[in-house]
Amino acid sequence: MLTYQDIIKEDDPRLRQKSLPVTLPLAEEDLQLLLAMNEYLEAGYDEEKTEACGIRPGVGLSAVQLGHLKKIIAIFAYDEKGGIFHYGFINPKIISHSVETAYLPSGEGCLSVDREVPGLVHRPRRIKVRSHVYDFKDGSLSERVLALEGFLAIVFQHEYDHLNGILFFDRIDQTNPFHIPENSSPIVFKQEE
Ligand code: NI
Repeated sequence: MLTYQDIIKEDDPRLRQKSLPVTLPLAEEDLQLLLAMNEYLEAGYDEEKTEACGIRPGVGLSAVQLGHLKKIIAIFAYDEKGGIFHYGFINPKIISHSVETAYLPSGEGCLSVDREVPGLVHRPRRIKVRSHVYDFKDGSLSERVLALEGFLAIVFQHEYDHLNGILFFDRIDQTNPFHIPENSSPIVFKQEE
């Protein structure tokens, strides 16, 4: 079982490198990597495991955060209405995005960044993704095009940035970290309304 110690942190140069495409069909070692990433995310939702196993909870992980420069992402998140989103992505590509942007009012966090970084990250509110998608529910893997919006689009883009060696604070306006562009609006969760 992976722990927080296994996740490489921001001073590790691998986080600045580009990840490489994964060959398909998925090799056993790549599948095991994806499943281990998912196991970590799942443990983050289990209070007993977070304490016992030294887990810092997160909604997404990219393979590079475990030191593997491979285009693999795992996401286990709930959208604004409480809908579950629980998939692995192999060789994802963002094929289009909205001009309108969105941001998390409390800013973004990252399992590889063990500190608070003040500031807002504005990202396209809607994206379309083409990827081989692994469904953690039934273990199926198929190429799909997904339309994501709001929180899930933000989470996906955060992980996708990791595949390109980008960390979320690279996208914070250095001179005015809390600036809100005209085309940007906050992500609001249902229970907060
Ligand atoms: Ni991250």
